[in-house]
Amino acid sequence: MKTLISNATIVNSDKSTRADLLTDGEKIREIARTIPHEAADRVIDASGMLLFPGGIDAHTHLDMPFGGTTSSDDFETGTRAAAFGGTTTIVDFAIQARGTKMRDALDIWWKKAESRACIDYGLHMIVTDLGEAGLEDMNDLVSEGVASFKLFMAYPGVLMVDDATIFKAMSQTAKNGALICMHAENGGVIDVLVKRALAEGKTAPIYHALTRPETAEAEAVHRAIALAEMAGAPVYIVHLSSEHALNQVREARDRGLPAFAETCPQYLLLSVEELERPNFEGAKYVFTPPLRPKHHLPKLWDGLKHDHLQVVSTDHCPFCFEDQKVLGIDDFTKIPNGGPGVENRLQLIYHHGVNSGRLSVNRFVEITSTTPARIFGMYPKKGVLAPGSDADIVIWDPEALHTISASTHHMRVDYSMFEGFQVKGNVRTVLSRGEVIVENNQFHGKAGRGSYLRRAARGGAWQ
Ligand code: URP
Ligand code: ZN
Ligand code: ZN
Repeated sequence: MKTLISNATIVNSDKSTRADLLTDGEKIREIARTIPHEAADRVIDASGMLLFPGGIDAHTHLDMPFGGTTSSDDFETGTRAAAFGGTTTIVDFAIQARGTKMRDALDIWWKKAESRACIDYGLHMIVTDLGEAGLEDMNDLVSEGVASFKLFMAYPGVLMVDDATIFKAMSQTAKNGALICMHAENGGVIDVLVKRALAEGKTAPIYHALTRPETAEAEAVHRAIALAEMAGAPVYIVHLSSEHALNQVREARDRGLPAFAETCPQYLLLSVEELERPNFEGAKYVFTPPLRPKHHLPKLWDGLKHDHLQVVSTDHCPFCFEDQKVLGIDDFTKIPNGGPGVENRLQLIYHHGVNSGRLSVNRFVEITSTTPARIFGMYPKKGVLAPGSDADIVIWDPEALHTISASTHHMRVDYSMFEGFQVKGNVRTVLSRGEVIVENNQFHGKAGRGSYLRRAARGGAWQ
C-alpha cells in the first residue's frame, strides 16, 4: 500500500517544509516538493495541515498492579486512546517482583501486550532487587531490547532501592549502554512525614501532597545525578515536577553531565489546589510526585523551552474514581497513585505550548517525539519524518477546536484531569507503520497490530 499525503507542512524537530510525502508499506519512501498522484494507491489532501512524526510517550503504566488494584487501561484500551491523541509509540514499564528474575517480568509484560497493543511499544524494566544475578540480568534484558531501567528512590518496602543498589545498577549501565530512569523523591523522609500526618488524623487527599515536599524531590534529583556522575553513567529523571529539582538538572547539564529529564502535562498545567476539591475529588489528582504550587508551572515551561527539560511524557497510570480511587477514602495513603493522560498530551502541549508562543512547533515535535526516540534508542526508525523511517505520521489540524472531557475520551477511566480544557489543534488522521489507524474520529486499527520495539542501548543523546 502506498499513500501520498499531499500539500502538507512537514514538521520535524529541525525544520518545517512544504512538501508531499509518500509511504510505501510500513516506511516513508519519499518526501519531495511534488510527488505525482499516480505513484500512490491513495491520496490524502493535507492542505492547511501539519504533519508530525507520530508522538512517542516514553512513560505509561498499562495494566499495572498498584496498591491492591490494577491501572484501568490495558494494552488495548490504552494504546487505542494513545492513537486517538496522535501517539504511535509508547514505552511502558515491566516490574520485577522482588526475589524473581527480570526476565520473568519481561515475559509477563510481553504477554500483557502482544495480543492487545494497537501501536508499537517498548518496555523499560523497573528493578526492585539486584540480588546475586541482577547485574547479569540487566545485560540479558539489554540484549532483548530493554535499553532502560527504572529505579525508585521512594516507596520504601515496595519499590525503593538503596543508594548502593542504584550505584551498582548505574555502573552496569555505564558498561552496557542502557539508561537509568529515576523516580527521584526521598522515600525515607516522606515515610516519616506520612506516618506523622496519619497519627495526627490527617487523612484527606491534600496530605498526599503535603507529605511529599518539593525538597524531597530536589534532594533526590541531586543525589541521583551525583550517583550517576560517580558511576560515569547518564541518568534520566522521570516526571520532574518542581523548580528546585529542575535547577539540579540544569546545573548538571551546565557542567556537561549527561543528565536528562522529562516532565508531564499535569505538572505544566495543574497545581496543588486540585487536591483540595470537595467530595474526595482531590483523589483524582493523587500521583507522585504531587502537584505543586502555581509558581512552579512557568519555570517548567521555561525549562522545556531552554532544553533544561528534554521530554514531555504523560506517566499515564489511570485508576477509576468510582471504584479505585475510593479505596483511600479514609486514608490518603491507600489512594492508588496515578492519573490518566496518554490521549491528551499532544493537544495540551500544542495548545499551551505552541499556540501560546512558549514553544516553536519544531520544539514541540522535539520534546514529544524526536528526543524520546533518540534517548530511548528508537531513532531514526521513530521520531522523524524522513525516507526510510517508519511511516508513523500524524496529520494535525492546527485550527480544530476540541474540549477535553471524560464523556468523549477513549481512555478507560471515568474522569479527566483536564475536564473542560479547550484546545485549538487536534489530530485529523494517524498512520502507524503506513496504516491509517485513526481517521474522522474513528479507529481503524486492531488489537495486536502493535509490535514490540527492540530498542538500542546508548540511545545517542549523550554521545
Ligand atoms: O503516581 C504515579 N506516578 N504512579 C505511577 C508510578 C510512578 O511512580 O511513575
Ligand atoms: Zn515514578
Ligand atoms: Zn510512572
